[in-house]
Amino acid sequence: MTPNGDPFLPGPTFAAPYHLSGDPADSEYTYGRYGNPTWTAYERAVGALEGGQAAVFGSGMGAVTTLLLALLEPGGRIVIPADAYFTVRQLAHELLPYEVREVPTDTAAFVEAAGDADLVLVETPSNPGLDVVDIRALAQASDATLVVDNTLATPLGQRPLALGADYVVASASKALTGHSDLLLGYVAAPDLDVIRSARNKLGTIAGPFEVWLAHRSLATLDVRVERACANALRLAEAIGEHVPVRYPGLPGDPAHELARSQMDRFGCVLCFTLPDAGAADAFLAASERVIEATSFGGTHTTAERRARWGGDDVPEGYIRMSAGCDDTAALVDDVTRALADALQRS
Ligand SMILES: Cc1ncc(COP(=O)(O)O)c(C=O)c1O
Repeated sequence: MTPNGDPFLPGPTFAAPYHLSGDPADSEYTYGRYGNPTWTAYERAVGALEGGQAAVFGSGMGAVTTLLLALLEPGGRIVIPADAYFTVRQLAHELLPYEVREVPTDTAAFVEAAGDADLVLVETPSNPGLDVVDIRALAQASDATLVVDNTLATPLGQRPLALGADYVVASASKALTGHSDLLLGYVAAPDLDVIRSARNKLGTIAGPFEVWLAHRSLATLDVRVERACANALRLAEAIGEHVPVRYPGLPGDPAHELARSQMDRFGCVLCFTLPDAGAADAFLAASERVIEATSFGGTHTTAERRARWGGDDVPEGYIRMSAGCDDTAALVDDVTRALADALQRS
């Protein structure tokens, strides 16, 4: 039992070196790049959610980079999605010493490519395309190390390790922390010695204050995700009456059946296509609730015209929207009014 007087969540520990005499192997904490009690507490919680151990990083990209460098020798063959988070593709092509193959987020394409790969990284649902890959089928299809980016679903929506993935990697900057005020990432797996050792060397570490804030946010993860997913579904239904929409939770969506078979919740992100860039910009200007911003998973509803970045193969009028925790009726009202406005003008 926790002793009386202990705080529910101990405050962050700020330390570079720790007091350390004698043999460093006798102390859990020696130097701040190797470990921190605030990380340990958060890692236990995230590990429990993902069903393995977890290691925290300063950003999702820090987690991806560390994972890939830790697991593969130079010249290793990796398969990555052609249509998922574009900075991962830039990293793989521009900075990492691997043979990179890109395939679309599609189970058959990944299974085929996995055959002669050392490592396969999928993002499911993919972002911003919202396609889904069958994690179980891919895990059984080859001996390649299977890494699943679980950013969009969160461990409350999908548990890739239980479905056969070897590693989970994710940005915690999105729904897992959910307040749009920090950057963080994590890796989860049954054993993380190799990953932690790589983190020590690469220095891809997180600050204790961010980790503490992230731990605090876990207390509301379930209610935030539940409201956001419900809002995303309602928005997808309403928007889908007027323009093409993608949301894996929507019956009739091409990814729905597969998503249902491996996801408990379908995430807060929906995407829809307006006729052109002008209509998309008009929609964003007309909405009073939807904040124009990149990223996703926050308590506020946000959206952006995704093609403005230039990294994704999407139509000019493609909007990626992240449903927040708004009052559902007020949000749907606002979005349908803004949509009608934008469509009338175009
Ligand atoms: C699916 C996915 N993975 C990884 C990342 C990278 O995470 P971070 O921005 O925390 O570095 C992002 C960021 O948008 C993402 O959307």
